[in-house]
Parts: sequence; structure tokens; C-alpha cells
Amino acid sequence: MPDKTLNQKFARRSFLDFLLGASSVAWLGSILYPVIRYLKPLPRAGPSGPTHLTREELAKLEKEHFVIVPVSGKRVLVLQNAAQQILALDAKCTHEGCTVQYLPGESAIWCACHNARFDLDGRVVSGPPPRPLPKYVAERQEDGGILIVAERRQSE
Ligand code: FES
Repeated sequence: MPDKTLNQKFARRSFLDFLLGASSVAWLGSILYPVIRYLKPLPRAGPSGPTHLTREELAKLEKEHFVIVPVSGKRVLVLQNAAQQILALDAKCTHEGCTVQYLPGESAIWCACHNARFDLDGRVVSGPPPRPLPKYVAERQEDGGILIVAERRQSE
């Protein structure tokens, strides 16, 4: 009988040791993960030359109607308008460089920093940006993929 109690006590102690160890590892992970993620540089530079959207980027484009992708070291906003056309514009606001986003319900590109709006050709509609967003060439390919060419065109 005392042997059984001793075994139960040992099993309980082992279980508590395991729980303590697991929670210590989880706590350490919750501290280290954000630090490592902060220190790891974000992928800014895409490949030079034409850029194919990845499967994940295509899925995001399909779901949210826009995606921001790296093209030759620049962030490019790729959007699908109401007519299902693919357009690509520089995602960097020409005012102070914030990242713009597409508002599908308003058919507009919006910069949240100073509430600026651009039309889908990149022209400034309202707000402080001094210049339009430069445009990129975007092509839908036969296999359903999307190709962004780094050749920029200034919006008229
Ligand atoms: S940075 Fe975009 S409006 Fe100011």
C-alpha cells in the first residue's frame, strides 16, 4: 500500500515537472519569437525583371482584390478592378511614402496616413500627394498566373 502511494506521488510529481517544463519552453518561445521576427529583415527586394505572383499572392488577390508584392526592390500594389482587369501601381504613396491600399467598394486607392485617394490609374483625387502613383505593366498569362514587369510608366 505505501508503495502504491509512493508511485502515485512520483507520477504526480513527474507530471507537474513536465507541465512546468512545457510552460517554461512556451514562455521562452513567446519572448524569443517576436524578438527574432523583429530582427529578421522583411523581404523587400523581389527578383529583378518580370515577377510572377506566387500561388499565395494569387489567392490573396482573389480573396481581397489586391495584394502588395515585391518587384525589383519596390512594393507594388496589384489589384483586380470591378471589370476583372489586373492593374499594378507603386504601393508607396508619393506624399511621405506610406503604403497605399485598394478599396474595392470605392474603386479607389487609399493612403491611410493623410487620407489621400488616388483613382485606379494612380492619379491623385484628393489629399496632399504631389504626384500620381507610377504604374507597372501587369499581364494575365494563359495559365492563370500574373506577371508584373518592372517597367514603370508615369500615370497621365
Ligand atoms: S503619406 Fe500618403 S497621404 Fe501622406
